Amino acid sequence: MIRPGTSERERAALMGNYGRYPVEFVRGEGAWLYDPDGRGYLDCMSGISMINTGHCHPAVVAAIREQAGILINTSNLYFTDPMIALAEWIRDTSMGGRVFFCNSGAEASEAALKLARRRGGPDRTEVVALVDGFHGRTMGALSMTGQTDKQEAFRPLVPGMVHVARNDHAALQDAVSERTCAIVIEIVQGECGVYPLEDSFVRLARDLADASGALLVVDEIQTGMSRTGPLYAYQDVGIEPDVMCLAKSLGGGFPIGAITARPGVDDTFRPGDHGSTFAGSPLACASALAAARVLDDPALHAHVRAEGTRFLSGLQALVDDGVAVEARGRGLMCAIDLPTDTAAAVVGAMLEQGFLVNNTSPRTIRFLPPLVITGDELATVLAALRSALVG
Ligand SMILES: Cc1ncc(COP(=O)(O)O)c(C=O)c1O
Repeated sequence: MIRPGTSERERAALMGNYGRYPVEFVRGEGAWLYDPDGRGYLDCMSGISMINTGHCHPAVVAAIREQAGILINTSNLYFTDPMIALAEWIRDTSMGGRVFFCNSGAEASEAALKLARRRGGPDRTEVVALVDGFHGRTMGALSMTGQTDKQEAFRPLVPGMVHVARNDHAALQDAVSERTCAIVIEIVQGECGVYPLEDSFVRLARDLADASGALLVVDEIQTGMSRTGPLYAYQDVGIEPDVMCLAKSLGGGFPIGAITARPGVDDTFRPGDHGSTFAGSPLACASALAAARVLDDPALHAHVRAEGTRFLSGLQALVDDGVAVEARGRGLMCAIDLPTDTAAAVVGAMLEQGFLVNNTSPRTIRFLPPLVITGDELATVLAALRSALVG
């Protein structure tokens, strides 16, 4: 699973901020990762929804190889075509507005926060976000994140954050005021265990943003790029955000993040307001354009919906059999709750069987497989899960 000496080298060379699983990977292909002994593991995490195309998708590999031999980066002092082409694709597939590039999800959250604060001015400095929401680990993104256990050691945070419980209509109504510059939501809260928002709650957020003059910011960093079925999860709810955040699978595995804002909001930043040296490099954008061609595909969307529904029924069968207590999901973003604090042990048992899943809490297991995974492969995941749960 791990080459001799790897854990010791890791401990001596890398800071201790991650709890890694006891496995090392040297190669990936489609939904599979391979350890140094050549053992295959079926990946049901996609690098936390970062590689929806599957590992080393041939189109992404070819685009990276070709672009790497031509031009890797120039900084944002100059024009490059892949950056403009990717921005055009994001604009034309979402709200029709312009795009800002960055390098990660946390940076996209920071950019959205700064845009909302810039637009709100000195009188609108409050952000309404959701309890259990997750937007990243830099200080602004962490402050919007509604998880006190992640925040405690880093107080004081950015001020002005108000958190309300998901699907609590009255609390959202009470929290939004003329001081609110942004309402920030995920359509499906991923990091805390895959909790879809009620459509009516999302629509209320849209209405409150309209009525109060705040921006509705939708974080599609985990839900976007076809994870839940449509290209962007908001498209199934029938609302449009004012600002959308993207990262993770946007780059086909290569780091890139972005925000886009609807026309009329996309003119908020002035030269010098925000920026990033690496962001929107020709290499990252070429990789993202190749991933976009794979993921922006009605046939893939139909596959995600059909297999997602089937997989969720399989999880629900475990609930019906009394070995689990709740199954949730949208598309290929699913979770199951166990009756006791055994999720970490079940994840370990799955790993031993050659399946990669993770637990978002002591009782919740999450599934985010690459979207190219087959129905037969997903059936093996359900069988392995059943055997890990039932023995
Ligand atoms: C919804 C959401 N927003 C933001 C982030 C932060 O992204 P990154 O890890 O690229 O900073 C994540 C990461 O899990 C996420 O799921």
